[in-house]
Amino acid sequence: MPPTRDAFARLAQGELRDTAQSIVDLAAPVHTGWVNLVTLADITAAAERIAGTAVRTPLVPCPWADRPLWIKPESLQPVGAFKIRGAYNAIARIDAATRARGVVAYSSGNHAQAVAYAAKVFGIPAWIVVPEDTPTVKVEATRAHGAEVVLSAVGQREAVAYEIVERENATLVPPFDDPGVIAGQGTIGLEIVADLPDVDLVLAPVSGGGLISGIAAAVKALRPEAQVWAVEPELAADTAESLARGERVSWSVADRNRTIADGLRSQPSELTFAHQQALVDGIVTVSEDEIRDAVAVLAHRARLIAEPSGAVATAAYLHHADRLPPGKTVTILSGGNLDPTTLADLLKA
Ligand SMILES: Cc1ncc(COP(=O)(O)O)c(C=O)c1O
Repeated sequence: MPPTRDAFARLAQGELRDTAQSIVDLAAPVHTGWVNLVTLADITAAAERIAGTAVRTPLVPCPWADRPLWIKPESLQPVGAFKIRGAYNAIARIDAATRARGVVAYSSGNHAQAVAYAAKVFGIPAWIVVPEDTPTVKVEATRAHGAEVVLSAVGQREAVAYEIVERENATLVPPFDDPGVIAGQGTIGLEIVADLPDVDLVLAPVSGGGLISGIAAAVKALRPEAQVWAVEPELAADTAESLARGERVSWSVADRNRTIADGLRSQPSELTFAHQQALVDGIVTVSEDEIRDAVAVLAHRARLIAEPSGAVATAAYLHHADRLPPGKTVTILSGGNLDPTTLADLLKA
């Protein structure tokens, strides 16, 4: 295992930012004690609500890999990403009269599509605020679900979303800072343990942290001996630094926007950070070249389309397997929405 405490200390001093050191073992998670973590019962209830709307994705075996590896392709969801699980569960929990007034979301893209899709299923209006640099494919897909798309300046989307909530008396569906969203994402963990009861390691991307929080809550409740590790781009490694310091550290929007993984540019909330401190065993950061390589490997070897954000967990397996716990491993392919030209570039490299 890596020299954990030493790495903690050096990360805390900012020494490891943007350097070759890419792993932190969080063997002794901190329990915050003041925040209510999402429970297995919340996640089981979410699984009942989303059944029939979200796809129960398979675990795809990877005989080409050099350890027992399965990929969970959330790119196969009707919106091309796992986000439908959390969005649908959160909207389903709103009382019918309030829900009928509509929902509002701010998102870098995949949560937007998910809220738009779920709103269409419920037959309610949706306003979606996205930063103006969001890939065209994501904006068009959101509009295609019948939602009103509102473009905002980078870094302003939350403020714009709150204005619409006030104006329309609608309900905000946050991208990750919400127990219903976290519980919905946690259904991925339920499915993993159901399909691979002796799973040893789950690797999932982290940004705002809703995905890893839900997965960790489910997996740790059902199979405490399994490890759940987060994966983050080196260029947006605020979570790695925050976990190392034991408190949330903010990176500038400009810094986080450097990564090609456009879905991984958010930072944890108090709620998702508390889940991670309590439940996540380790975090690995991956370089931009490693992310690009993983997109190509997923296409060529697994025949699966991943957007860069969706490929980081597989990038960690491909490039840092020697530093991860051994055993039966599941990587989450969290989404597959990317412009065809970007995909073509990534496959050529
Ligand atoms: C494809 C993809 N993967 C991973 C994530 C990260 O999810 P979270 O913000 O819940 O950590 C996102 C978030 O938008 C995403 O779009």
